[in-house]
Amino acid sequence: AAAIACATAIPAFAAKPLTIGFSQVGAESEWRTANTASIKEAAKKAGVNLKFADAQQQQQNQVKAIRSFIAQHVDVIAFSPVVETGWETVLREAKNAKIPVILTDRAVKVTDPSLYVSFIGSDFVEEGRRAGRWLLDYAKKNGGKPLNIVELQGTTGAAPAIDRKTGFAEVIAANPKLKVIRSQTGDFTRAKGKEVMEAFLKSEGKNINVLYAHNDDMAIGAIQAIEEAGLKPGKDIIIISIDGVKGAFEAMKAGKLNVTVECNPLLGPTLIQTAQDVVAGKPVPKRIVVNEGVFPAEVAAKELPNRKY
Ligand code: AHR
Repeated sequence: AAAIACATAIPAFAAKPLTIGFSQVGAESEWRTANTASIKEAAKKAGVNLKFADAQQQQQNQVKAIRSFIAQHVDVIAFSPVVETGWETVLREAKNAKIPVILTDRAVKVTDPSLYVSFIGSDFVEEGRRAGRWLLDYAKKNGGKPLNIVELQGTTGAAPAIDRKTGFAEVIAANPKLKVIRSQTGDFTRAKGKEVMEAFLKSEGKNINVLYAHNDDMAIGAIQAIEEAGLKPGKDIIIISIDGVKGAFEAMKAGKLNVTVECNPLLGPTLIQTAQDVVAGKPVPKRIVVNEGVFPAEVAAKELPNRKY
């Protein structure tokens, strides 16, 4: 009887759990931490075996991780590419091994789009445009005075850095009084954001009216630099950033940040569902875009309790 009970509990035809190899960019920001948690939670909930590798913001680590996933014959490879270019060879190796690849968060530039099955993530150009539109509006309300802007770019070569710069520049071109006077990478981290803002303040001093940071972490680092320089962030220097993490809402509540453009990191459930569909042979959309909003400081106190990351 015991043998029968055992056979009932573990049927011989039980499906083998899906194995996904996921190569993450790193742990550079509050956004990234929320993204990693979302992916791990969704995999756990779905009973997916997740092989997780942290690339520490290095493309060569991601290439290594993808090759190791191929060698382990995982069912699906997913990754958030640190930079946009340089993926053709390794993605062709995955294709030759018949392992489907799903991109999350960031895009790749490849000549053969069949090298990946789906790309799930934000429209970064639109996020840059949203930041630019907020500034156009602010400039108008501010009496049309000329405004000097400094820009903290994300990681050089990363899709969000390229696209957020492009979208912002495209929109602010409508007002010739808005000028980007300095633009440099802060690698999406607080420490680098602070360091580069210190350099901007040293060379430009009180010439700076606006800071546009490609993510909240760099803005938060820059806020510290601005305060240490004896200036008031959010007042002496208007600050616009992207992501919408809790840290940004707290900075807005404290009057130190003026607006954050949302970038949703909670991609885990969509990634896992897409991977399951691909393996089941169902058609999946080539591009899945995430819906996002814009949160100015005026709504920060009311919105903070609703924020999930
Ligand atoms: O690719 C998304 C970006 O990467 C987020 O804006 C940033 O915070 C992260 O490091």
